[in-house]
Amino acid sequence: MYSGHWSENVKFLFAKKVKNTFFLWAFLVGLSLAFISLLSASTSSWATVPTGMQDWWVGKLPAWVPKPKEPAHNLMTTAKVELGRHLFYDKRLSANQEMACATCHLQEKAFTDGNAVSKGVTLEAGARSAMPLANVAYMPVLTWANPNIQSLETQALIPLFGEHPIEMGMAGREQALMQLFATDKTYQVLFNQAFPQLSNMAKKDKNALYNLATMTQAIASFERSLLSFNSPYDQYKYGGKTNAISESAKRGEDLFFGEKLECYHCHGGFNFTDNSDHERLKFPEQGFHNTGLYNLDGKGSYPSHNIGIAEFTGQPLDMGKFRTPSLRNVALTAPYMHDGSIVSLEQVITQHYALAGKASAGPNGTSPIKNETLVGFELSPQELKDIVAFLNTLTDTQFIQNKAHSDPWKK
Ligand code: HEC
Ligand code: HEC
Repeated sequence: MYSGHWSENVKFLFAKKVKNTFFLWAFLVGLSLAFISLLSASTSSWATVPTGMQDWWVGKLPAWVPKPKEPAHNLMTTAKVELGRHLFYDKRLSANQEMACATCHLQEKAFTDGNAVSKGVTLEAGARSAMPLANVAYMPVLTWANPNIQSLETQALIPLFGEHPIEMGMAGREQALMQLFATDKTYQVLFNQAFPQLSNMAKKDKNALYNLATMTQAIASFERSLLSFNSPYDQYKYGGKTNAISESAKRGEDLFFGEKLECYHCHGGFNFTDNSDHERLKFPEQGFHNTGLYNLDGKGSYPSHNIGIAEFTGQPLDMGKFRTPSLRNVALTAPYMHDGSIVSLEQVITQHYALAGKASAGPNGTSPIKNETLVGFELSPQELKDIVAFLNTLTDTQFIQNKAHSDPWKK
């Protein structure tokens, strides 16, 4: 149990595939070259843009939003974002050539897939719901319940090469993938533009440029570029547009931030989650909570394939603790919760939070280990409309229509 998915998923990086010399070689060479060249370009730690290099973030964020942290070895550039966008939308990155990252992360659904749980290339169902990617740059920990995954560069390897569950099914096909990049005209140009410091070395050895390190750095850069700060609520709250949201939504806002519903305790801050990291924070904020969704045994247990961070910490009281999701664009990300078990926003309120957890309606009653701020509440029909109206104001249509985030292969 304790070793969990994470080690299962990356074990292949260090054990099973060691026999595959191309893979190991390309990976290690790529990684060290990337580090050496970037270290020589920048002398210091996080997020210091070397002199002469333009800071990608300038002009990208509204004044009221802090800048996210970016790793010093992978500072944002327009060229890396563009390469990452091509990779994110490329179905050739899967075993059956039919699945891209974008298959489960659709822009029109705020980068979710509309399914309760996702299916990979083998059609085996995974345990959890695909997650929205807006403002993922600010997330200090990734996925629903794995405290060990803290970088987008690392996370990208999981859908590509992970075997529990199989998503894109590329384990064992690393060589073919690098071959694709090295021979495809579009990728040749994009990789050279994204990693100009490796271009020269690649003339002697293509693995210096086409490897897992450069690939994941580009994908992560694209993901960090997915910024969503222009919902009607943002325009109302920070843009001074008093009529950007309805009177009903304004009453819903009061409910959301009030002590009856207590939503803001966990879904607080500019991203509507208590998980946050940015340049003004010394230590990242992390929030994993049990919301009382299940109580299978009277002691608060969850279905065995989805027990939350307890799978990694081994602590019984971590049973059912999942990362608080951001509520930005939440109207587009149904069905809800880690397992997609609640179909609508109305039901999230009436059948879950109002009852102090959905389990309260079941045979074993309210979970004894749910978060104590969740005590349930009664809402009038108008108040229910108001809170849902408020949640609907968090939809940023500019974000889901932004061409910079869309499929570059569609001409
Ligand atoms: C088969 C569907 C599927 C594919 C393909 C897929 N994902 Fe996901 N993605 C998911 C699911 C499901 C989760 C939640 C995983 C979990 O909690 O265990 C997720 C979570 C994530 C997260 C975490 C977001 C957060 O807020 O913590 C990121 C980032 C991500 N995916 C990026 C990618 C990238 C990059 C690719 C392509 C290399 C990709 N995904 C391919 C289904 C998919
Ligand atoms: C104690 C912290 C906490 C409080 C308080 C809280 N939430 Fe949540 N919320 C979470 C966590 C954690 C999840 C994910 C739980 C899971 O999947 O098992 C979640 C999930 C959700 C989701 C599903 C989002 C998605 O993408 O699937 C919605 C919607 C939501 N909460 C709305 C609310 C509203 C509205 C309130 C106030 C009535 C509220 N929350 C109060 C922690 C909290």
